[in-house]
Amino acid sequence: MSHDLFLAAKTAMAKAYAPYSKFPVGAALRTADGKIYSGANIEVASYPEGWCAETTALGHYIMGGGGKITEIAVVAERMPRVTPCGGCRQRLAEFAQADTRLHLCDETGVVQTVTMGEMLPYGFAGDMLK
Ligand code: THU
Repeated sequence: MSHDLFLAAKTAMAKAYAPYSKFPVGAALRTADGKIYSGANIEVASYPEGWCAETTALGHYIMGGGGKITEIAVVAERMPRVTPCGGCRQRLAEFAQADTRLHLCDETGVVQTVTMGEMLPYGFAGDMLK
């Protein structure tokens, strides 16, 4: 992965609104047309109403035109290697492929790279509804 995707996730993390958990997270998605979409977690005083960094990034991705996601980076300020929560694995899998690379980062860069298929094995998918 080029360092720019990690830097986009880290820059997004700096914009996190996480006054309750004090756990800022950043995520960035790269698409085949070369665009990068990023996002941070946004918390709400009614805790269950907040949402994750990956979800913010996916909102930007959709509004920016979508397309094939080629790689994803996630970083958290207070974790040596953050992994997306279960709900975000499902949301990312909606738009990525099983072989899409997911870079798990710390504050200095990529710590581990896995695939979406490894992150969400046996996941429920839209083609099962057909
Ligand atoms: N969080 C994310 O943004 N992404 C994840 O994959 C894990 C959790 C956020 C949600 C909440 O604002 C904070 O981290 C603590 O759970």
